[in-house]
Amino acid sequence: MNGKILVTGGTGYIGSHTVVELLNAGYEVEILDNLFNSKIEVLDRIDRITGKKPKFYKADLLDRVALDDIFANTKYDSVIHFAGLKAVGESVQKPLEYYKNNVDGTINLLQSMQEHGVKKIIFSSSATVYGVQESPEYVETMTTGGQLSNPYGRTKYFIEEIMKDLCTADPEFQVALLRYFNPIGAHPSGLLGEDPNGIPNNLMPIVMQVARGQREKLGVYGNDYPTKDGTCRRDYIHVVDLAKGHMAMLDHMQPGVSIFNLGSGEPNSVMEIIAAFEKASGKELPYEVVARRAGDLPEFWANPAKAKAELSWQTELTIDDAMKDTLNFISHESKQ
Ligand code: UD1
Repeated sequence: MNGKILVTGGTGYIGSHTVVELLNAGYEVEILDNLFNSKIEVLDRIDRITGKKPKFYKADLLDRVALDDIFANTKYDSVIHFAGLKAVGESVQKPLEYYKNNVDGTINLLQSMQEHGVKKIIFSSSATVYGVQESPEYVETMTTGGQLSNPYGRTKYFIEEIMKDLCTADPEFQVALLRYFNPIGAHPSGLLGEDPNGIPNNLMPIVMQVARGQREKLGVYGNDYPTKDGTCRRDYIHVVDLAKGHMAMLDHMQPGVSIFNLGSGEPNSVMEIIAAFEKASGKELPYEVVARRAGDLPEFWANPAKAKAELSWQTELTIDDAMKDTLNFISHESKQ
C-alpha cells in the first residue's frame, strides 16, 4: 500500500505530470495550489487520464493558518514541493516578491510539516543552483550558490541551504533536493502540458506560441557562442521522465539530505530544438537570430550517473518524443 502525498504546486506543469505518475503508481494524492500560474481544469484532465480526481486545496503557502488546517486534517507520509514563482526576468524586477513567496512559503511549509510530524519532502530544485562552473557537465558534488545570475535562482539555492540546516537540527527529516535541467514536452494524452499564464520566457513555450500563430517568430538569443553551431546548449528532459524521477526518489528516501541531478546527460542546441520541432510538425518554424540574453551560459548539462546508480532512474524519452507530445498538446488545446 503506497502512502499519502501532499503535492504543492500540483496543478502546475511539472506538478501535474508528477501527480499523474503518483496516481498511476497507487499513491493517494492531495494537491495544494494557489492557481497563480495554473488552471483548475487541470484536475479534470488528471481525472480523465487516471480515473482519479485528487482532493484539492486552493491555498497559498504564505497562509500558515490554512497550511496548519491541511496538515491537522490529514496524516501525510510525504510532501512533494513544486509551488513557487519561476519567471527569471520578473525575479530581477521583483526580488522581494520572489524571496517572500519562495523562501517564506517554504519555511511555512516546513514549520507546519515539522509541527504535524511529517518529515519527508522532495523539493523541486534547479540546475540553476550550480551557477557558473569550470566544467559544463554538472555533478552533484560541485559547489553551489556561486555567481547566480538572478533572484529566482538564489531562492532555489537558499531553500536548499535551509533544508540542509533543518536536517542537521532535526535528524528525523528526510529531504531530497532534485535539481532539474530543462523540462520540455507534454503528457502523451495531449491533456497536460506547459501552459503558463502571462508572457512566457522559456524556449519551448515561445516555440509553442510561434506554432500556434500567436507570435511571428522565435528570437534565437545569439549564435556566436563557443558551441558546435554557435547557439546555447541545454539538457532538455521530457517532463514525463522528470515526473518518474520523483517516483524513483520516493522509493529511496532516507534520513538527511539526498541530492540528485535529473537530466538526460545529452545537451541540445537551440538550432537542434528548432530542427526537431520542424521535423515533428513538418513545417518551418520562423526564427531570427537576435542579441544574446544577459546571464545565459553557453552550455551545461547533467551528469546523471548518481540518479542512475542509486535511484535506478534514467531518461527514456527523446527530444523527438517531446516535440511530438508538445504538438499533440497544442492540437488538443485548439479543440477545447
Ligand atoms: C532558464 C533560467 C534558469 C531557470 C530555467 C527554468 C536564465 C538565464 N536561466 O534556463 O535559471 O532555472 O530557465 O525556468 O534565464 N532561448 C532562445 N530564445 C528564447 C528563449 C530561449 O534562444 O526566446 C534559448 C536560451 O538562450 C537558452 C535556451 O533557449 O539557450 C533555453 O532557454 P530557457 O528555456 O529560458 O532555459 P535556460 O536559459 O536554460
